[in-house]
Amino acid sequence: MKIMTWSGNVALVTGAASGIGRAVALAFAGEGVRVAVVDINTDGGQETVRQIERAGGESVFLKCDVRREDETQAMIEGVVKEWGRIDYACNNAGIHNDLPGVMAEVDQDLWNRIMAVNLTGVFLCMKYEILQMVKQGGGVIVNMASIAGLIAEPGSSAYTASKHGVMGLTKAAALDHISDGIRINAVCPACIDTPMLASAPEEVRQYLKSLHPIGRFGEPEEVAGSVMWLCSDLAGFATGTGVALNGGVLFN
Ligand SMILES: NC(=O)c1ccc[n+]([C@@H]2O[C@H](COP(=O)([O-])OP(=O)(O)OC[C@H]3O[C@@H](n4cnc5c(N)ncnc54)[C@H](O)[C@@H]3O)[C@@H](O)[C@H]2O)c1
Repeated sequence: MKIMTWSGNVALVTGAASGIGRAVALAFAGEGVRVAVVDINTDGGQETVRQIERAGGESVFLKCDVRREDETQAMIEGVVKEWGRIDYACNNAGIHNDLPGVMAEVDQDLWNRIMAVNLTGVFLCMKYEILQMVKQGGGVIVNMASIAGLIAEPGSSAYTASKHGVMGLTKAAALDHISDGIRINAVCPACIDTPMLASAPEEVRQYLKSLHPIGRFGEPEEVAGSVMWLCSDLAGFATGTGVALNGGVLFN
């Protein structure tokens, strides 16, 4: 099988100012891919760009709130203006509820906030990425879902619904655009050691760790490895699916 060349291609990663997104951006850059670092957090985004440049890579920061259609469209146009195309897009920006709470106690404001970033944000990014990828004759998209896109996460109904939504959108978009030469998949990690998880109270962290038969949380670089595989030609037959990265949680 012919193994692809990454070098000189163009990737876009949302939520790349931190955690998993930063690890994905660094993984692309490590292969010589030019990376658009996208986030609402300017300081963190610029730090990711600095890390890429220190390692000899090429990167640009684009500030964008993925909840907003005007900003998302302008961000995609900005990447194309800079480098002419988008070969890979990782729609990773996401938020979690700070504390667990049962479904009947979820207020609509929390529901709206989580849906706006986790589901509407992925919809808007994919829409404009796909329009560009159709024009250029193909591309690969990886959405950051979660184990909560496959099973229910206790005390996190809005987050669980948003990530199940990401899985539905991934499957539907993959089918709609299979004949455009675009592959669309998702990654479904269990707990990964990032700032999102660090903000949980220590007793919650310990409880979560105890749910992982492997005995630890995952590392952001382990998620980045799956994104790279899905973007590579080695995953050429994969579309409309989710890669579960769970330290054995699903087998509990
Ligand atoms: N950490 C985990 O355990 C875990 C597990 C499964 C899935 N995930 C998913 O992985 C993704 C990344 O999570 P992480 O753990 O790296 O979290 P993180 O908080 O470290 O990073 C999330 C990034 O998204 C950005 N962001 C938030 N709202 C945004 C918006 N409206 N527009 C643009 N950017 C925005 C933040 O500024 C931040 O840089 C999320 O979608 C999350 O749901 C995380």
